[in-house]
Amino acid sequence: MSVWSVIVAAGKGERFGSYKPLLKIGDRYMLEYSVETISNNKRIEGIVVVCLSSYIQTIRELLKKYEKVKYVIPGGQFRQDSVRKGVLKVPENIEFVMVHDAARPFVSEDIIERAINAAMEKGSCVVCLGVNDTVKRVENNLIKETLDRNSIFLAQTPQIFRRQDLICAFENATAKRLVFTDESSLMEFQGFYPYMIPGDKTNIKITYPDDLLLAKSFLKESLDLGLSEKENYEDSKAKRERNYFIGIGEDIHSFDKERPLYLGGVLIPFDKGLKGHSDADVLLHALIDALLGAAGMDDIGTLFPDTDPKYQGISSLTLLHNVSTIIYSKGFKIQNIDMVVFAEKPKIRPYKAEIISVISNVLSIDKTKINLKGKTAEGLGFVGKEEGIYAKAVVLLTKEG
Ligand code: CTP
Ligand code: MG
Repeated sequence: MSVWSVIVAAGKGERFGSYKPLLKIGDRYMLEYSVETISNNKRIEGIVVVCLSSYIQTIRELLKKYEKVKYVIPGGQFRQDSVRKGVLKVPENIEFVMVHDAARPFVSEDIIERAINAAMEKGSCVVCLGVNDTVKRVENNLIKETLDRNSIFLAQTPQIFRRQDLICAFENATAKRLVFTDESSLMEFQGFYPYMIPGDKTNIKITYPDDLLLAKSFLKESLDLGLSEKENYEDSKAKRERNYFIGIGEDIHSFDKERPLYLGGVLIPFDKGLKGHSDADVLLHALIDALLGAAGMDDIGTLFPDTDPKYQGISSLTLLHNVSTIIYSKGFKIQNIDMVVFAEKPKIRPYKAEIISVISNVLSIDKTKINLKGKTAEGLGFVGKEEGIYAKAVVLLTKEG
């Protein structure tokens, strides 16, 4: 049996608020998760990725390392149009097509394997999730009926059908101007009863921003606690050669009575702030320089010159985010960060947790990878005389060889 996969990623992400496939989850873009997992299945021979036309070049570049990705093409108005365009790219000699939503990044290798096995045996396969809650049919806020939950399932992807069956069904639906939300309902309309296998709760669809929090918690869980295949994935990656890059960053700013004090992206209640072109966040500047240094790049002043008016008053968190995007796109991963703030006043400890939390969010890394200490200078030098603040950061980056 020959199988290709069509991964649809051409939705606009209106409910989410942005284009989801290029959203960062952990250290990768959402689309990469399903492309990688599907690529890993030995029986998948080729993959068609259908995406928004404006992101085609970016996505082609992002996915060029996946040999099985044969086409990256633009989608259509409705999901059904995108799937149809993808299926039409699958070569005629391929028997089955496995359709998957890029909005489900955590599909597991196990589900894909089981779905292909089932399709091979039964001629089709739709991955569904049973419901644990009691299910009601409601009209105008009145509960009319309790349905038998044992016969109710929520359809997920992957969904596998014969290429030829799908093409005929699409032609029929197009002729009748019918739009279905998944391949199963399209096929049901033809009088075809797809075979169902039970899926997995972690195969969630990212629709609203809250779903991403859930997704991140799955990812964190599987990374931190070593659950399931994500651990195997990490393990196998660890077995490849790993290169280490250390970076150091330091910065000094003098106090300015007229300005607010920002440290580590947090507004600190204090009677003076720091002088500078941007928000003068001395700690983030040290951190940015450490990241750039480890990545072998120019320093913050070269990248974001203080002669450029566009950086006037800019939040250093924006600069940090930009820098993280650059280093992640070069394949670096942050292993840990250690930082010191030398200030006679204010005390750093009360803001430590908040600063770590803000930095962890911007960099999409776990809080446990970030450390921060405050030191006084015992009255010595410019720090001791309360003329300014000095910050220092050290980071360790890794890159797989
Ligand atoms: N999809 C697609 N082409 C469309 C619409 C949707 O390829 N015209 C894809 C999406 O990219 C997603 C999957 O179908 O992977 C499920 O769609 P959904 O979760 O609704 O994503 P979006 O359409 O992007 O979100 P929204 O409806 O909020 O705009
Ligand atoms: Mg949609």
